Amino acid sequence: MGKKLIVKACQIATPKGKQAKYGKEMNNLAVIENGAIVVEDGIIQEVGPAADILQAHDLKDFEIIDAAGKCAVPGFVDAHTHFIFGGYRPDEFYMRLNGASYMEIMNAGGGIQNTVNATRSSCFDELFQAGMDRLDAMVDYGITTVEGKSGYGLDAETELLQLKVQGKLNQAHPVDVVSTFLGAHAVPPEFKGRNEAYIDFLIQNVLPKVVEEKLAEFCDVFCEDGVFSIALSRKLLQEAKKQGLEIKAHADEIEQLGGAELAAELGAVSADHLLEASDHGIEQLKKHRVVATLLPATAFCLNKRYADARKIIDQGCAVALASDFNPGSCFTQSVPLIFALACIQMKMTPEEALTAFTLNGAAALKRADSIGSIETGKKADIVILKYPSYKYLSYHTAANLVETVIKDGKIVKQFSTNKRYTEV
Ligand code: NIG
Ligand code: FE
Repeated sequence: MGKKLIVKACQIATPKGKQAKYGKEMNNLAVIENGAIVVEDGIIQEVGPAADILQAHDLKDFEIIDAAGKCAVPGFVDAHTHFIFGGYRPDEFYMRLNGASYMEIMNAGGGIQNTVNATRSSCFDELFQAGMDRLDAMVDYGITTVEGKSGYGLDAETELLQLKVQGKLNQAHPVDVVSTFLGAHAVPPEFKGRNEAYIDFLIQNVLPKVVEEKLAEFCDVFCEDGVFSIALSRKLLQEAKKQGLEIKAHADEIEQLGGAELAAELGAVSADHLLEASDHGIEQLKKHRVVATLLPATAFCLNKRYADARKIIDQGCAVALASDFNPGSCFTQSVPLIFALACIQMKMTPEEALTAFTLNGAAALKRADSIGSIETGKKADIVILKYPSYKYLSYHTAANLVETVIKDGKIVKQFSTNKRYTEV
């Protein structure tokens, strides 16, 4: 029988349900003051007022976490990252600080290709070790499920290697890792000027292996002016769908190309970035129930305008928030930075932001039935904050409030309170 745990918290704050929350519903959090959560076998068994729950159980059977003065929220779900890569690109950061744009650096042979070169010359163990370290850093921020994309190989061998590393990390590390095949992240030098030939290569030589070896659940594409057109993105995603993968798209990030419309047309699970999405595109996302995954830390790092979260939510869409962690456009995994940007810059309410980083993030990974909220029957993925209310997540600006992280019912991180030097 699995270990039993009761978490007694000053406040439990969570969205509820097994599906994404759309539009106004994103504001509806369940908030239980003086609550308790019973966990067994890694699953939440009961949630409710502590007085009722404690009375109904023999406490000596349980390990008790007394979170008096603290708040429990669902583990954060980071539904868009590129966290497996070789090398770093600090020089490009300097170039951007001096006025070069992301696309200028990419077109001059840097950018994604720079990381592709470093990833191609990395071995499994190097990528795996770096992955373990990065997952540890995510746990520190309360992330309990993360999506990771390939896309730094751009050849069959290295694309598959990245995905295999993620598969092994999923087994070795407590954080759940969900894999996405992003072979269409850039056109490699071998196919320069032959974008369609590269897409055909992916369809014929890489996608079938990804599917056969069950290395990814999703297929994604960088649908962008100068990278992959709408027509080529459609060609790849349709084929991926036919072969049984769910689909996503990097859509309308830099130019308004119609990526949001394409994601809706093809029944994608999510459309991501959307800085430049058109009103019609947003309307289509709503109509086809595609989660709009917004990545404010990328806009911040590239010093670009933010996606119009207010308009997207007010038009009735489901918004998820994610980090886009990668070595180029957004080299940060900081959950608190994203909460601050979402509320202060994008005008999301703290309630919407919490829903976006938990239940809607889970929906962007087709996992809203098992994670993303603190409810009976869901996985016991729980974060205890140092403060008594979820409101501190955005109010205590960009500070990491995580005290304890529980993943599948086990404590995987506990920041101990600093012992101050008291003796003279
Ligand atoms: O989502 N836009 C494309 N891909 C990443 C950046 C990857 C990189 O620069 O290495 C993004 O921002
Ligand atoms: Fe991305």
